[in-house]
Amino acid sequence: MNYDFGQNWERFSAALSRQDYLAARDSLRNLAGDLRGKTFLDIGCGSGIFAVAASSLGASEVVGIDRDPKCVQVSLDNLPKISAWDGSAGAQNIKFLQKSILADVGDLGTFDVVYGWGVLHHTGRMYDSFHKAASLVKKNGLLIISVYNRHFTSGFWLNVKRLYNTGPKILKITLFYCVYILKFLGVAITQGKNPLGKDRGMKFYYDVRDWVGGYPYEYASVDEVVQYFKNKDFETIKINKTAGFTGCNEFVFRRRT
Ligand SMILES: C[S@@+](CC[C@H](N)C(=O)[O-])C[C@H]1O[C@@H](n2cnc3c(N)ncnc32)[C@H](O)[C@@H]1O
Repeated sequence: MNYDFGQNWERFSAALSRQDYLAARDSLRNLAGDLRGKTFLDIGCGSGIFAVAASSLGASEVVGIDRDPKCVQVSLDNLPKISAWDGSAGAQNIKFLQKSILADVGDLGTFDVVYGWGVLHHTGRMYDSFHKAASLVKKNGLLIISVYNRHFTSGFWLNVKRLYNTGPKILKITLFYCVYILKFLGVAITQGKNPLGKDRGMKFYYDVRDWVGGYPYEYASVDEVVQYFKNKDFETIKINKTAGFTGCNEFVFRRRT
């Protein structure tokens, strides 16, 4: 009962604007720093916009992988569209491949920067995918991930997502609109933000679709993630805690050995 991420990224991409892409590129720059001359792996590339942004920010070689063939196709389709907006995004140094982080990644080699935003908690085997992602980082390289925060409502959301993915269409629509209203009010009241504002170039409507449907779904506290990577000899460089309860915490780790 995996969620159809490909369809959501396809619809998101049909509405993608230059402003969305530039916001995505800024968010990557803020998190990853200087990418000039670095090799970059985007795990679970979705729409592919962060892989393209990495190339625009100077990465020498970019590989985007996604388990879902629709996401790979959407990423390939977005490449010329974004290159037309941003002449620095070089299509010649980007590859998009259909691969799962849990399998067949041994032939990819290792990278200066491995980026997996909002992905590893959707693989169904989050800690195995942490392990795989870590193994693809070069010595002194960066691992940048975001993972759903553990919260007292996490179990509730797990059940909502199961229901969404197994239920009939009418239930999907009802759940979507209930969650849309709940999230809209939650973001506006608890964070004092306009929910329709575009963090990372994303769009509220597609974010809600991704949130209500995104399954498999796992979560971890900040301490659980930090401790896991500390045991693998990764130094914590930066943590951006989620502004909401159940959103994603962002982590930047550096591999020491
Ligand atoms: C929430 S989306 C995030 C997309 C993108 N990283 C972003 O930040 O916009 C999660 C993505 O992870 C992909 N995914 C899920 N399991 C995966 C796996 N085992 N290996 C590779 N990609 C996977 C999904 O197909 C989906 O495109």
